[in-house]
Amino acid sequence: MIRRRQFLGALGMPTAGALAYLSMQPRALARSIERLSELAGDTASPEEVAADESYWFEVQQAFTVDRSLINLNNGGVSPSPAIVQEAMKRYLDYSNTAPVYSMWKILEPQREGVRKRLARAFGCSPEEVALTRNSSESLQILQFGFDLKAGDEVLTTNQDYPRMITTFQQRERREGIVLKQFSIPVPAEDDDEIVSLFEENITPRTRLILMCHIINLTGQILPVKKVVQMARKKGIPVIVDGAHAFAHFDFTHQDLDCDYYASSLHKWLLAPHGTGLLYVRRDKIRQLWPLMAAPEKMDEDIRKYEEIGTHPAANYLAIGDALTFHQGIGAQRKEARLRHLTHYWAQRLLEYDKVRLHTSLKPQYSCALANVEVEGIDPGALATHLWQEHRIIVTPIKHAEFQGLRITPNLYTTLEELDRFCDAMEDVIRKGLAA
Ligand SMILES: Cc1ncc(COP(=O)(O)O)c(C=O)c1O
Repeated sequence: MIRRRQFLGALGMPTAGALAYLSMQPRALARSIERLSELAGDTASPEEVAADESYWFEVQQAFTVDRSLINLNNGGVSPSPAIVQEAMKRYLDYSNTAPVYSMWKILEPQREGVRKRLARAFGCSPEEVALTRNSSESLQILQFGFDLKAGDEVLTTNQDYPRMITTFQQRERREGIVLKQFSIPVPAEDDDEIVSLFEENITPRTRLILMCHIINLTGQILPVKKVVQMARKKGIPVIVDGAHAFAHFDFTHQDLDCDYYASSLHKWLLAPHGTGLLYVRRDKIRQLWPLMAAPEKMDEDIRKYEEIGTHPAANYLAIGDALTFHQGIGAQRKEARLRHLTHYWAQRLLEYDKVRLHTSLKPQYSCALANVEVEGIDPGALATHLWQEHRIIVTPIKHAEFQGLRITPNLYTTLEELDRFCDAMEDVIRKGLAA
């Protein structure tokens, strides 16, 4: 449980920069500090806090988002809280004073502090965490980092992320490896069935598995630990695509037991855009090639994956501010709130026979991402309608086996915004889309 000072610090309330962004007058600030200190009491459960609108009202004020629209695509990339944006700008301005000194000599070494904090949050050693630009970079380090020869098979589902599929397809064209993909149920509420599907599709030529921790199309959370442990017995490494998982719902490395993990920090951690995490178990680092060449003496050093040439220090350092914000709210409270928001809109729309949810609402299988279909309505046309008529941003999903809208609220989303989304959807459910 958090204490009052930590929580207020996390929201950035006392700093001049945050005050400017939040436009708070001293009296209003004093009131919100009072309120936050009441709310940050140690007694309420995450689920109780999740439904306390006055608590979330204060959190909503930490963002400078455009309230003339309703952004329900926080899966792609998220806005950062003002305090993170402020830190980013501060680091960027200082970098520019004399970059060879201020950026390289002063700021760059500070990333070691961020590495330590990220490792602590993920539950591993700092010597197992590399800071990258996004999940794509982390995953491609993993996907290209294994030596494979013609005829070797890599296995994944037909719901994995297109760029990661493209990566293996390029290896097919270049090196003659073979990509195998299989279908999984939507939604999937039986862990053993998922593990069996991976196992049944392994052949004597399978050299590598790629799996999602949470699938971007439906928000389905998969049983990573069980798949990893099954594959480990067969000597097959598993790359875990956790692009949407870190700082979204509460878990640590111990819950996964994986050797390779990738996540984007500009999604659910709300860190600056262009930040990602790569985890490689310590004794696996030597064998895994970096994407950009590193000297031999770095063979066993996780930092070999960061040898990318000149890059800004600001993004990476402001990850620390995003972590402080995240930890000030608390991972469990955040997870409970995100799930509360999903249930809020989903349960209202599920009142209608025409509505199908391609996401399980059981807590172990989803959190803030869910896929909803209105039968008989094309999701692309519906997304266009929601934007043009209501300024609501959603993501249309068309997969060979299912289709719908992906809806992803975030901490700054208000219930009034979800009400307006549901009103607009109900209108279409009743009347259809005007020609
Ligand atoms: C499952 C999955 N993997 C990888 C990525 C790539 O993430 P990024 O664009 O941050 O590199 C995404 C992006 O949405 C994703 O959903």
